Amino acid sequence: MLLYILLIQGFINYQAIMLCNERMNEMKNSSYSGFYKLSPEERLAEAAEFCGLSEEDKAVISSGNSLDMDKADHMIENVIGRFTLPMAVGLNFTINGKDYLIPMVSEEPSVVAAASNAAKMARENGGFYTSNTGAIMIAQIQLIDIPNPNFAKIKIYENKSKIIEICNEKDPTLVKFGGGMEDLEVRVIDTLQGKMVIVHLKVNTLDAMGANAVNTMAEAVAPFLEEITGGKAYLRILSNLAVHRLARARTVIKKETLGGEEIVDKIVTAYAFAAADPFRAATHNKGIMNGIIPVVLATGNDTRAIESGAHAYASISGKYTSLTTWEKNADGDLVGTIELPMAVGLVGGATKIHPTAQVAVKMLGVKSATELGEIIAAVGLAQNMAAIKALATEGIQRGHMSLHARNLATVAGAKGEVMEEIVKKMVSEKNVRLEYAQELLKEYENRK
Ligand code: MEV
Repeated sequence: MLLYILLIQGFINYQAIMLCNERMNEMKNSSYSGFYKLSPEERLAEAAEFCGLSEEDKAVISSGNSLDMDKADHMIENVIGRFTLPMAVGLNFTINGKDYLIPMVSEEPSVVAAASNAAKMARENGGFYTSNTGAIMIAQIQLIDIPNPNFAKIKIYENKSKIIEICNEKDPTLVKFGGGMEDLEVRVIDTLQGKMVIVHLKVNTLDAMGANAVNTMAEAVAPFLEEITGGKAYLRILSNLAVHRLARARTVIKKETLGGEEIVDKIVTAYAFAAADPFRAATHNKGIMNGIIPVVLATGNDTRAIESGAHAYASISGKYTSLTTWEKNADGDLVGTIELPMAVGLVGGATKIHPTAQVAVKMLGVKSATELGEIIAAVGLAQNMAAIKALATEGIQRGHMSLHARNLATVAGAKGEVMEEIVKKMVSEKNVRLEYAQELLKEYENRK
């Protein structure tokens, strides 16, 4: 009886803690005004408070060389040093009702400000809602020299259980946690060298990106496939076109927030251009990647895998097109969606080795790789909206101009209010040059 009471009490306490955590999350507000006016140290302090970072975590972010030489030397070959980039936070993101500060690593000005600005517009109407198709990676095995490929295809399907058994023996840990090979698909394709049988192993890699797991399985099962088909197994490698590992996000932005239905129409027209024309779609999708890659990089994930998967998915219909859609709903508001492969992990690779990547993951507080993927998709959608809104209205250069002016004023040595005044003057006079920034700074100093 006592045990029973203790169990019930434990459960009630657990519920109370969970509720409290949920409330804390609900209360958190990723929207700051004037964040850009703070110093990097002040911004880090704000971010640390929001994300619950320790002094140690803060030191990792601010030091810029948290990856020590020894670790770097073990990551890749012929190491001669390390390379640092700015790390920032995307503001204003509300995703599935929860606020996030988004860690972003990029060399490109305007990107973080633009994403934050779009997220601000989206949050006025609830922000972003996301979903995913699970963490299923594909490994491909290329079988050649098969005289009767269609017969071989059916034989492979007949042996599905054995194939799954061979693959899953290679990764008992993945299987123990609920992952492993789940299914297969066999395709007969026409190539320059005749017909080939291509086997797809569909593997649930859970919180790992999964490259190692699926490549090991593909290599392990290849001899058995040769045995049952009489063919020769050639390439055995994952596919970055991870069509069973999609992340999705959607948002509704009120026409009033955008400045009227006319702006909604302009954005929808800008999207129609990308949807119809591969030349425009390439740039449109580059804008999406401007948001996606900084988060992929910050969390230590493989940026090339995400890029190749995204662009391949953009052409899956046979014609390269937009990864997002933008429409006007019955109320005249703007509705946007994104769907793309998102093979990111939380365990293994640079995510586990790079101290800053670990802190970036902690900042997001994600519990699974699919949750991380969803957040990244939402950032891509926000980034795209910001870019096409700017392009469809005032053009991209105005925003760039003030950031450029800010950079030049910083190089000239301006700070605080003086910096703001110099930036304003340079932009309004359309005279954004370092010499002019220096001249203006001198003028302000002489006036003191
Ligand atoms: C620049 O890095 C990205 C844009 O070209 C994206 C777009 O054209 O949609 C502004």
